Amino acid sequence: MHYLRCITCGKRYEPDDIVYNCSCGSILEAVIDLSEVENIFDGVNPSVWKYSSFLPVEKKASLHEGGTPLYESINLKKDIGYKRLFIKNEGENPTCSFKDRGMTVGVSKALELGMKKVACASTGNTSASLAAYSAHANLECFVMIPSGKIALGKLAQAIIYGAKVIPINGNFDQALEAVMSASKAFGIYLLNSINPYRLEGQKTIAFEIYDQLGEVPDRIILPVGNAGNISAIWKGFKELKGAGITDALPKMSGIQAQGSMPMVNMYIKGEETLVPEKNPDTLATAIRIGNPVSWQKAINAVRESKGLMESVTDEEILAAQRKLSSREGIFVEPASASSVAGLMKLHENGDIDEDETTVLITTGHGLKDPNAVTESIKIMDPIDCDMDTLRKILGE
Ligand code: F0G
Repeated sequence: MHYLRCITCGKRYEPDDIVYNCSCGSILEAVIDLSEVENIFDGVNPSVWKYSSFLPVEKKASLHEGGTPLYESINLKKDIGYKRLFIKNEGENPTCSFKDRGMTVGVSKALELGMKKVACASTGNTSASLAAYSAHANLECFVMIPSGKIALGKLAQAIIYGAKVIPINGNFDQALEAVMSASKAFGIYLLNSINPYRLEGQKTIAFEIYDQLGEVPDRIILPVGNAGNISAIWKGFKELKGAGITDALPKMSGIQAQGSMPMVNMYIKGEETLVPEKNPDTLATAIRIGNPVSWQKAINAVRESKGLMESVTDEEILAAQRKLSSREGIFVEPASASSVAGLMKLHENGDIDEDETTVLITTGHGLKDPNAVTESIKIMDPIDCDMDTLRKILGE
């Protein structure tokens, strides 16, 4: 059994209420009965649905999401001077981002509620994922995207899975506001991360890390955009503890791009409310977000866990993306590389301890945004294929 609860005033809502905000204006979370969950953390076959006793849905619209590898860093950790470093590569999900974990649960919920139409605003990955799960579940899908500001691979995904793609003149924050109003007005099920069922799926990242590592790491580092994922992973670790399965909690550490860092500002200034960034900008388009909808959950996660928030520049992001690819063989999109850039910066500044067991979450696959590579790294001019030229290049 589960219900929905306002994170601010505690007001209760029932599972068949289609509601995203509390009447007080705050946001909702799902409350799970932890006395009913199963301790199945045996290190074998992790996947979102392995942990179904923690998930508040009965139906299952699945494309085999989760079960992503937890790589132990070989080279990067030496370069940085770190002892135990792991990379949870969420790019290895069905549509190549962590969003699939949320969508399998969110779309299952849409089916339970008998909804026929679903929608989201997106910087790219949410739209790709919702489009795929809607195709699988026979739902009509609308995605609103900031025109010209989503990576090519993600746009191609949303189109080919058959979503109605609606570019808007405006940024993600404006698209989200519009789709929230439109969903309410037209009876469409909203599947942005303000929908608490999305975060229920995403909390399985915590379960898989514990399952694969056999322990709770000291620190989790991940990119923050709309601030849902950091909230979800924290909820997952807290549920493991609440169920008596673990007794430790990780320090949740969120990274934002410097042109788009309202959560970092809030953390540094110790403020109680978020001041939105009106003109967010970064080449890490996935996290080009100025008014994160889950900011309350996210700041609680950071403060309760004694974690931190840090910002990185676009140059640092690109350098980190290249480093992770060339040193570990893991190609991630720019937003994901901000985890790596964040780790390097935090370590350099002496803000984190090299003895900590740390897990970096890399949230999306590098192939989603090939332009980020081809426009920033030049290759040599074409050559004529004669032996003299080849000898110069290959043989000497
Ligand atoms: N990394 C990637 C690759 C993302 O696509 C996103 C968010 C994030 C990190 C940040 O996660 O929003 O939970 O803090 N992308 C959304 C989208 C907003 O529309 O695809 P968050």
